[in-house]
Amino acid sequence: MKAIVYERYGSPDVLQLQEVEKPSPKNNEVLIKIHAATVTSGDCRVRSLNVPAGFRFIMRLVFGISKPRQPILGSELAGVIESVGKDVSKFKVGDAVFAFSDAALGCYAEYKCMAEDGAIVPKPSSLTFEEAAALSFGGTTALDFLRRGKLKRGESVLINGASGSVGTANVQLAKHFGAVVTGVCSGANMELVRSLGASHVIDYTQEDFTKNGETYDVIVDTVGTAPFSRCKASLKKGGRLLMVLAGLPDMLQAPWVLMTSNRKVIAGPVTVRVEDLHFLAGLAEVGKFKPVIDRRYPFEQIAEAHRYVDTGRKKGNVVITL
Ligand SMILES: NC(=O)c1ccc[n+]([C@@H]2O[C@H](COP(=O)([O-])OP(=O)(O)OC[C@H]3O[C@@H](n4cnc5c(N)ncnc54)[C@H](OP(=O)(O)O)[C@@H]3O)[C@@H](O)[C@H]2O)c1
Repeated sequence: MKAIVYERYGSPDVLQLQEVEKPSPKNNEVLIKIHAATVTSGDCRVRSLNVPAGFRFIMRLVFGISKPRQPILGSELAGVIESVGKDVSKFKVGDAVFAFSDAALGCYAEYKCMAEDGAIVPKPSSLTFEEAAALSFGGTTALDFLRRGKLKRGESVLINGASGSVGTANVQLAKHFGAVVTGVCSGANMELVRSLGASHVIDYTQEDFTKNGETYDVIVDTVGTAPFSRCKASLKKGGRLLMVLAGLPDMLQAPWVLMTSNRKVIAGPVTVRVEDLHFLAGLAEVGKFKPVIDRRYPFEQIAEAHRYVDTGRKKGNVVITL
């Protein structure tokens, strides 16, 4: 089968189209023929090791010290079950599914095997394969952080970086949970963020949300430009700062913030639950959650897609079609 392989960390040029052995499913696995995948900000970080302060060595420990242990990137896919192992009971040949392989990666390929108990869920029938492929990364990240931040109905939430993959999911989910949402993005994306459910939108090139006197119950920072030191005055008493993107020094501050202020900092890696994929699929099926797609690239042009995602300016998600 064809796969996009990288054998060393670096620029998008390290991504090469190669012929590799087609996998065959173990007894508890399904073989998925991939119709669509995505290029996430996470893929770009694993490829380049361009990570927040203090995380480079941890990334090497997880993904390979001197070179990538898993040579095929990609954490999201949508496709059709092509064959199943003899013990598989949840899926059958021909089922349309979407899946999230998270740090196990391996989705930049024509086929992928996954355990039937992994993060694989029937594709919502109202979504295309491209849309379904883009459900998981931003959606599960937003859900996990909002849950850890204990967002309540009627609370006010500000989302810094509201037009990215995590941001567009956050705006929609926070609105769904009954919060009053303010999104922060550049002028070009204000209409998009408003259309996803934000009641207020701030153009960060024109206004600094930390200096306008407004306060929020929850601030979600998906960009890394709103550490506690900068936005503490924008958090209400009892407020929570959800640092989706944080360096180690900011994360280590969290216990100190809790002890010395009546506010809370929540950071760290996301826990992926299969129930969350079912939840997102259910919302998407009835039109209450929409994976925003910015650009689509053919499989052979993944390096180009990486160059675009590396800019840090994509709107929602970038999809790869096979
Ligand atoms: N903690 C975890 O486990 C976890 C999980 C997933 C992701 N992450 C991290 O979360 C971050 C966000 O991921 P993502 O996939 O959503 O990124 P993304 O899609 O690449 O985000 C791009 C968006 O960021 C916006 N942006 C750029 N600079 C901005 C600024 N100064 N202020 C406000 N918005 C700005 C851009 O909007 P404009 O073009 O309008 O500027 C663009 O729409 C990544 O760094 C990723 O590594 C962490």
